[in-house]
Amino acid sequence: MVIAGLRRLEYRGYDSAGVAVQTRGADGQWLLATDKRAGKLVNLEKSLAETPLAAGTTGIGHTRWATHGGPTDANAHPHLDDHRKVAVVHNGIIENFAKLRADLADRGHTLRSETDTEVVAHLLAEAYDGDLAGAMRAVCRRLDGAFTLVAVHADAPGTVVGARRNSPLVVGVGDGENFLASDVAAFIAHTREAIELGQDQVVELRPDGVTVTNFDGTPAEVREYHVDWDASAAEKGGYDYFMLKEIAEQPKAVADTLLGRIGTDGRLTLDELRIPDQVLREVDKVVIVACGTAFHAGMIAKYAIEHWTRIPCEVEVASEFRYRDPILDDRTLVVAISQSGETMDTLMALRHAREQGAKVLAICNTNGSTIPRESDAVLYTHAGPEVAVASTKAFLTQLVACYLVALYLGQVRGTKWGDEITSVIRELGDAPRQVEQVLGTMEPVRALARSLADARSVLFLGRHVGYPVALEGALKLKELAYMHAEGFAAGELKHGPIALIEEGLPVVVVVPSPRGRSILHDKIVSNIQEIRARGARTIVIAEEGDEAVVPYADHLIRIPATPTLLQPLVSTVPLQVFACELATAKGHEVDQPRNLAKSVTVE
Ligand code: F6R
Repeated sequence: MVIAGLRRLEYRGYDSAGVAVQTRGADGQWLLATDKRAGKLVNLEKSLAETPLAAGTTGIGHTRWATHGGPTDANAHPHLDDHRKVAVVHNGIIENFAKLRADLADRGHTLRSETDTEVVAHLLAEAYDGDLAGAMRAVCRRLDGAFTLVAVHADAPGTVVGARRNSPLVVGVGDGENFLASDVAAFIAHTREAIELGQDQVVELRPDGVTVTNFDGTPAEVREYHVDWDASAAEKGGYDYFMLKEIAEQPKAVADTLLGRIGTDGRLTLDELRIPDQVLREVDKVVIVACGTAFHAGMIAKYAIEHWTRIPCEVEVASEFRYRDPILDDRTLVVAISQSGETMDTLMALRHAREQGAKVLAICNTNGSTIPRESDAVLYTHAGPEVAVASTKAFLTQLVACYLVALYLGQVRGTKWGDEITSVIRELGDAPRQVEQVLGTMEPVRALARSLADARSVLFLGRHVGYPVALEGALKLKELAYMHAEGFAAGELKHGPIALIEEGLPVVVVVPSPRGRSILHDKIVSNIQEIRARGARTIVIAEEGDEAVVPYADHLIRIPATPTLLQPLVSTVPLQVFACELATAKGHEVDQPRNLAKSVTVE
C-alpha cells in the first residue's frame, strides 16, 4: 500500500525512495523493517521483490528530491536513530540542522547520512517517553525552516505521527484505516475524505482515529473536505505518459474552468472570489507573482488586465519579488498563480504582500493547498490532477482564470461594457473546441519534432502575448529534452541574439493574427524574413488563412483564428506536443525530467 502511494507521488521527487514498516521480530517484539534505494522508485521495488520486508499494517514511505546530501542509498529516507526505534521521512529544509547535528554528535549519537532529516530521528528518540505526538511537538519547537515530517516508533505500534510547517501534509480519513500524504493522490484509491492540516500542527494517526494538535499541545481546528476527483483521474488512462494524457485533457480542463462562472444574465459571477467588489473598484495596481510556467501565464495576464481594465499591472517571478522591497499597499491587488498551491517562492511572496497590506487573490489548481488557504480569495482552476512534471493543462486553465479575473475587474470597475464582456466570454467558450481542433492536427508537428532530435539548439520568437508563449515553448523543451532552447521577444532579436542564427538553426515563430492588431503581424513577418535570410530553418505557427507568412515558412503549423489576446490558448498546444515528442525521440522520460520535481516546496 505504501509503495502504491509512493508511485502516485513519485512526480514530486525521484532521486531516491524508501519505506519503513512496523512488524514483529522472531521474539514477538515490535521492530522497524526498512529498505531504501537511490534512484527511482523502481529500484526500491526491485530490492523489495528480491528481499521482501516482513508483513505489517503500519508503515511510512518517501520519494526524495535531494536538498542536503546527494541522491545515495544512505541519504534516502526513512532515517533511523541509533537504536532503530524511530523512522522519519521529511520534505523541506531544517535550517538549524548543523547546530542540532553537532549537539547530537557531542551527546554520543552516530549520524549516518549527510541529510538535515536524520537529526529529527535522533531527537525524537531522545524525546520519546511513550507519547510519540508529544515527542514530535517538542522536537518541532526546536526546528527552524520548512518541513513536513512523518514518523513511526517501534514501541508505538499502529501509530503514525506527522507534523507540518510551510510544507504540505494532508490526512485521508478511511474506514478502520487512515492515511497521511503530501498530496491526496497517494490515498485517493482508498478514500476521498480528507482533512487539511494547518500551519504548525501535529497529527497522530491510528487505525480508528486522528488527533490534531498545535505545536504547543492545544487542540487544533481542522477543515474536512471531499476530494472531487477519483483514482482514475490520477492514472494514465491508456496513454504512454501522463503528459500526453494531460495535453489531451486540455479542452475539458478549459471548459471545466469556465463552467458555472457566467450567470444567466451573461455577467461573470466569480462566487468564490471573496474580495468585495468595492475593494476591487479601489485597486490601483495589480502585481502578479508566480514561477516557471505559471509566471508565463502571468505575463499573458498582464496584457489582458491592462488592456481591459486600464489598471497598471506588474508581473514578477516570485523568488525575486519580496527581496527588492516592492511598493505595495492596501490598494494593490496581488495575484499569486500556482498549480500546486505549495510553491514556496510564491507562498513567501504572498505572505510578504499581505504583510504590506495588499489583498492577495490566488489562482490555484489544488484544493486544500497552502497558497489559497493563506490568500484573501481564490479562483480555482479545474484542470484535475496534473501529474507530469511539465505543466500543460494547468497552464491553459491558468490563462482562462486570468482572463476571467481581468474581465471581472473590467466589469466591477465599468471599464468594459456588458456586451463586450459577453462577447469575450463567448470567444472563451469556443476555446475548448479550438484546442480540440489543434490537437487533431498534430501529426506533422510530431514528425517535425522527431526530425529535430539531433538539433543542438532551438529558438522561439513571439511578439505581444506570443512572447510569453515563446518563453513557454522554450521552457518545455529545456526541461523535457535537456537542450538549449531560448525564447525572445521577436523585436529584441536584432539587439543581440540574432548573432546566434546560423545555417539550419530551427527557429519557432509564434505569429499574431493578421486581423485586429495587424501592425504586430507585419512586424513579425519582417522578423521571419530577417532570420531566414541568415540561414534559420523557420517553423511558423500562424492562424488559418494567414497567407503572408507562407513564402517564409519552412514548416507551417496552423492554428484556428482567435482574438489576439486569447491566441495563447491555441498557440501553446503545438509547442507542448513538440517538446514532448522531441524528448521522447531522444529517449527521455517525459513525465519525470531529471533534477526536477512537481511541487517545489523549498526556496
Ligand atoms: C514547468 C513547470 C514549472 C512550474 C513552477 C510553478 O513545466 O511545471 O515551471 O510551473 O514550478 O509551479 P506551481 O504552478 O505549482 O506553483
